[in-house]
Amino acid sequence: MTTALHFDVGSVRVAPATVLAPMEGITDRAFRRLIRTLGGCGLTVTEFVSSDQLSRQNRRAWQMAELDADEHPVSIQIYGRDPDAMARAAAYCQGLGADIVDLNLGCPSKAVTGGCSGSALMKEPALAEAIFRAVKAAIDVPMTVKMRLGWDEGSLNAPLIAGLAEGAGASMVAVHGRTRMQMYRGVADWRGVRAVKQAVGIPVVVNGDVLTVDDALRALAESGADGVMVGRGALRDPWILRRIADRLAGRAPYAPPLEDRRAHLLRYFDILREDSHDDRRAIGRMKKVTGYFTRGLPFGADLRQTIYHSHAVDPIYAAVDAYFERLAQSGIDDGFARVHPDDETPDRATDARRLERAS
Ligand SMILES: Cc1cc2nc3c(=O)[nH]c(=O)nc-3n(C[C@H](O)[C@H](O)[C@H](O)COP(=O)(O)O)c2cc1C
Repeated sequence: MTTALHFDVGSVRVAPATVLAPMEGITDRAFRRLIRTLGGCGLTVTEFVSSDQLSRQNRRAWQMAELDADEHPVSIQIYGRDPDAMARAAAYCQGLGADIVDLNLGCPSKAVTGGCSGSALMKEPALAEAIFRAVKAAIDVPMTVKMRLGWDEGSLNAPLIAGLAEGAGASMVAVHGRTRMQMYRGVADWRGVRAVKQAVGIPVVVNGDVLTVDDALRALAESGADGVMVGRGALRDPWILRRIADRLAGRAPYAPPLEDRRAHLLRYFDILREDSHDDRRAIGRMKKVTGYFTRGLPFGADLRQTIYHSHAVDPIYAAVDAYFERLAQSGIDDGFARVHPDDETPDRATDARRLERAS
């Protein structure tokens, strides 16, 4: 079994060897701060930001790339198809304080691949390489690339793309163990990531379907990767990175008491409101994250039902408070532990179907 404790992305040490995956619509400053506060996260990554919009000074794009002053190490992820625009955007990101600039070659969304960026770039290795080289020449901080295994089963070219990235000066690659055509269907192939690890000398991070601490250990062992990246697992259980880090360090994984769960969800709401400037956006994110957070939990459906119909902040706070009170009064203080056990695989098929509907 691997004992990944840390890895280096160029001059940036990632310790512990755990990464919060970029998730558009989720991993904004507030969510990243929540995860950092809980501990165990070696690196955070922003939502993807359009290089074209950054270059055109689009206000929303700049907000998406905003970082907390104490958020280190942090990576800003950009996407696009024009090497010059990507290079300019990367330089802006460096100016904004990014420790790392990450390039998105993994997004399956038609809005992104339709414009020939995201995972579609995996079908155009020459263009991908031109982008890597242009970006690398524009920044001093390390450059990394996030990709899938390939476009489809017939073109599993992640080792080739990772090699081109390394040749152009990339300092790490993260690989989601699915193809573009799989979207979020099926199960992530952690063994498939091993081919990338064998092809390059830079650190490789394994990603996809890590929902429990045991999953993380299996993903690391099967891929031989240097670190593990978690996306949806951190929405179901925001403590998962801390718990993985505990296990990697030989400690018993932290099991947050119910009060911690309540306090941190409400604190996340506070940060969202501070950051959002307008309550409508904050309310949308509160609903989304609470929905993930309570899936499969006792009375979770009732809570979701209540907050989905709320149009103001106060009733959402009140509903979450009442929900945790109800759990406590029902004597359920290990509800989360039962839903997120360390040694059991949750229902991935249901998760995958839900995501596919959402994407
Ligand atoms: C809601 C959502 C938004 C995502 N947005 C991004 C993104 O902006 N950039 C990116 O590289 N990947 C994005 N992804 C993919 C994740 O980073 C990750 O590769 C994928 O979800 C598999 O990991 P997981 O099973 O741990 O979630 C997104 C995934 C989800 C579910």
